[in-house]
Amino acid sequence: MTNIKNPIVTVAGHVDHGKTSLLDNIRKTGVAETEAGGITQKISFTLVPLENIKKRCPLIESKNIKLDFPGFLFIDTPGHAAFSHLRKRGGSLADLAILVMDINEGIMPQTAEVIELLKINKTPFIIALNKIDNIFGWRKLSADLKENIDSQGTNTKMEFQEKLLTIIGSLYHHGFNAKPFYEVSDFSSQLALVPCSAKSGEGMNELILMLCGLSQKFLKESLKLGDKAKGVILEVKKEKTMQYSEAILYDGILSSQDTIAIASFNEPVISKIRVLEEILPVSKKFKPVNKSTAANGIRLQLINSEGILPGMPFVVFKDNIEQIKKEFKKEIGDKLHTDEKGIIIKADSLGSLEALTLLLKQENIDIISSGIGKINKRDIISAQTNLKTDPENSIILGFNTDEDEDVKEMEKGKITIIKNEIIYKLIEDVLKTQKEKRNEIKRERIMQLATVAKIKILKQFVFRNSNPAVFGVAIEAGKIKHSLPLMNEQGEQIAHIKGIQENKKQVEEATQGMEVAMSLPGVNFERQLNETNYLYSDMSEGQFRDFKDNKDLLTPEEIGALQKIAEIKRRTNPAWGI
Ligand code: GTP
Ligand code: MG
Repeated sequence: MTNIKNPIVTVAGHVDHGKTSLLDNIRKTGVAETEAGGITQKISFTLVPLENIKKRCPLIESKNIKLDFPGFLFIDTPGHAAFSHLRKRGGSLADLAILVMDINEGIMPQTAEVIELLKINKTPFIIALNKIDNIFGWRKLSADLKENIDSQGTNTKMEFQEKLLTIIGSLYHHGFNAKPFYEVSDFSSQLALVPCSAKSGEGMNELILMLCGLSQKFLKESLKLGDKAKGVILEVKKEKTMQYSEAILYDGILSSQDTIAIASFNEPVISKIRVLEEILPVSKKFKPVNKSTAANGIRLQLINSEGILPGMPFVVFKDNIEQIKKEFKKEIGDKLHTDEKGIIIKADSLGSLEALTLLLKQENIDIISSGIGKINKRDIISAQTNLKTDPENSIILGFNTDEDEDVKEMEKGKITIIKNEIIYKLIEDVLKTQKEKRNEIKRERIMQLATVAKIKILKQFVFRNSNPAVFGVAIEAGKIKHSLPLMNEQGEQIAHIKGIQENKKQVEEATQGMEVAMSLPGVNFERQLNETNYLYSDMSEGQFRDFKDNKDLLTPEEIGALQKIAEIKRRTNPAWGI
């Protein structure tokens, strides 16, 4: 038994489907109730020894099920964070997974994301169809789940079957042959669904039994303890002058006398361990130990903790620095591929950065630089530099991370910062923003050549009659700028704009919705404009065509003005048509 590891069981699924409650039920604590806002904010681990599991689920002993491993290391994940945060070298950190799904909601976006990641990583898993107690008319009628289901009223049973079938159908589209656990004949080709309620406890015994069965059946080989301690940093915490790193030791035995090498973007961090602590069974507390055996939740205080980042892998260090460097470099370099141009991305851990990179690549979105941590001043400055050569990509993405305080106050101009905790929302937003930016660039280009404008003359504000005429105008559509040629509703050319003033200050241009004073040389207001209500920008036929071809870039008001300009022009030239 000594050389068999605890299997790592990750609990994942959509927000609020009951992951934490389910774990609470297995370990018999009340964590979900004490969480801020009832939401899991970070990844956490719990060690549950086999004796606790056996106590929790007497069926194991009564059915005479033999188990060879010491216990489970459960990992609870926040529903909002991609399960892919949890990666170890060459795969997912989970030996097994429980995908929690609210039976009444079925497959939600985050569920689908988890399914895909489990598939990529080839992680064996079972599905807990939680919250059966919410099915209309459901009653707890038997301690045996199958019997319990069979004893429900006709309508309730029908509703349950319908929900089950819908979910089985959706899973089929994801490439799985799913069945309720009592119909599963072959666990290697069929995916087991366990209806349950974390609230009433129904189905929990069956779920634990499935978990034990799967571990015993599928993990025998992979649960053999390796000879080299390996782990991954989950979180780096600062308390006063101390820095703690919470980590998962997923292979080997780590000793408090060991020196470890932790991957970073540059040189690996090499450090002796100051204090090694291990999580206590069914608890959130740690105790100092001389040795810890995988899989385990540990806390490290290191002599040298400079530059340690969440998600980074570590290994025990034994003078093989070149080898380690090569391994880390390959691993991190490969995962964080960047391009000549593109957007800037930041995430809270290496795992999340990797997942984001992968998905952005799939959508052909280029990345110029990527990093772990908050969006900082340097990111803004590089985005500003990129803006000149690559305006379409003036975007900074924050996956599960925020801006630094000083960044919040910075002038960001045309840089767009997009933050989200849900990875596919980020991708959607980037694609949308890129499109908007492309349109804006195109719009600016055509607007540079000419301008659409409809101007209302404000006759109560005539400041000067002539040489030049200065009077108030309201821009009802488009924009006006210096030198823009204007015409009246009869198509007569009036003048080119000489100056524009807003609140007595000279401005370069005025846009839709603004009221400004405009000066026109060679115009006598009284004689030429007293009877005129509107002026329009004058343009050539070529310019008109250019606008017409890019109509989708114009506002409804601008299209209206363009139509009016065409109408005026058509009186003298029938070729103008919109
Ligand atoms: P996140 O960590 O925020 O992603 O949520 P979670 O998946 O851990 O869900 P959590 O356990 O916090 O449960 C969400 C809500 O569902 C809570 O109000 C629970 O009390 C409730 N809940 C969980 N399981 C059940 C269940 O089996 N039946 C019913 N009726 N409610 C449940
Ligand atoms: Mg939770």
